[in-house]
Amino acid sequence: MTKKSYITTPIYYPNDIPHIGHAYTTIAADILSRWNKIRGNKVWFLTGTDEHGKKIEIAAKKKGKNPKEFVDKLIPKFKDAWKKLNIDYDKFIRTTDKYHEKNVKKILQKVYDKGDIYKGEYKGYYCTGCEAYYTKKDLIDNCCPIHKTKIEKLKEESYFFRLSKYQKKLLDLYKKNPEFISPKNKRQEIINRVKEGLNDLSISRSSFDWGIQLPFDKKHVTFVWFDALFNYYSGANGNWPADIHLIGKDILWFHTVYWPAFLFSVGIELPKKVFAHGWWTFDKEKISKSRGKVLNIDELISIAGVDSARYFLFRATPFGDDGDFSEKALIDRHNNELADKLGNLIQRVSSLIEKKGIEKTKNKLLKKLNIKKIEELFENYEFDKVLNEIFSFIDICNEYIQAKKPWETNDKKVLYELADSIKSVGILLWPFIPETSEKIAKQFGFKINFDEIEKPLKIIKIKKSDILFRKI
Ligand code: MSP
Repeated sequence: MTKKSYITTPIYYPNDIPHIGHAYTTIAADILSRWNKIRGNKVWFLTGTDEHGKKIEIAAKKKGKNPKEFVDKLIPKFKDAWKKLNIDYDKFIRTTDKYHEKNVKKILQKVYDKGDIYKGEYKGYYCTGCEAYYTKKDLIDNCCPIHKTKIEKLKEESYFFRLSKYQKKLLDLYKKNPEFISPKNKRQEIINRVKEGLNDLSISRSSFDWGIQLPFDKKHVTFVWFDALFNYYSGANGNWPADIHLIGKDILWFHTVYWPAFLFSVGIELPKKVFAHGWWTFDKEKISKSRGKVLNIDELISIAGVDSARYFLFRATPFGDDGDFSEKALIDRHNNELADKLGNLIQRVSSLIEKKGIEKTKNKLLKKLNIKKIEELFENYEFDKVLNEIFSFIDICNEYIQAKKPWETNDKKVLYELADSIKSVGILLWPFIPETSEKIAKQFGFKINFDEIEKPLKIIKIKKSDILFRKI
């Protein structure tokens, strides 16, 4: 039976054009999705935009536009960015899509009818940057712990979701299903906080109106996170439950506490896993338009091309950890690894085959590629280590040419072993650097499919390849 895999990215706030932080999760989802595809699995890959809420309303006002007009202009920028980065998603959901709004209203009504929503008064702190509520003790010098901006004190009539009621169920979930919160090192913090007790959650706002109206009280719009989280369900296209929600560590609480509690309340099956990655800084500064540096997608690509950018982000830092982005570090990896190791191997082997020819034999070199290990690493989202394995094998191939000197010996069998090894490298690198992999596949005449790794390369006429990565 073919396995199916439903993979999601967070839906991004379209209050500005996308930057490297957004690209990171989206490329990760693309890598995972392509990995599943080469394994012959069916994939449903969802991404999109989170368009309601105060943050968007404010951004629109600043430009003198109404919120819908404002976001309509930005959505093409997101789609365009993903296209440039070779993101092969299946569906792009917008929370202003009618089917989603209808779905959220239906769910709100259901939760209300069940008695999990009640009316009260909200008094507390709300950070518009996070679109989240904080208590006095969460604040640092009266500022948001994430955005470091002064925080609004709110007092308004609000509907509340009985989050407190789900404390035990949540703790049971984490216990029975330890993988639900990944990676492991982020789990305990959530469990500790939930153990401390949960306050009911304000899930409506009446002081502004850019949101989905509550079906049982038209004066209120839904809290943007209630609306946003259900995108995963609205956009599932029959693939629910999601196999994995890929997110940044800043929104882990929403995804591992609010989200499962909402689902418990409506009686919908839970997603299988939430994986939180780390944050990038840019030259050691926070990536933020207001308080640091930003790198948008065109800038990211202009440094050394799409594949080098994709490669760098997943090579430089373990996926769950924080990392620092610098142009120099990217260029170094582009030059020293993609150009000098991979590019050089392809050029040398193809040019030697063009000159000397090729002869089929058993590829003994392939034993040095630890495919089992690569599979395991992929299953654990250890992308940096996957690349490490592949590049160690590329080193082995480069050393093999040096040792065997086929340019002197005219040994066509050695050249076959190298070409067949390049096939495996090309297939395994496809999730990370699809454009380059496809060029290699065309050049050496193989299909990009995991099963092809075990099959001997069919001999076609191989010509000297163009330079794949020009040194910078
Ligand atoms: N709209 C919410 C998500 C709702 S999902 C139901 C949101 N949007 S966001 O646009 O602010 O951020 C989306 C994602 O980008 C988050 O996962 C966040 O972690 C990620 N990143 C934003 N800046 C980042 C870095 N500097 N580094 C890595 N990821 C970062 O939150």
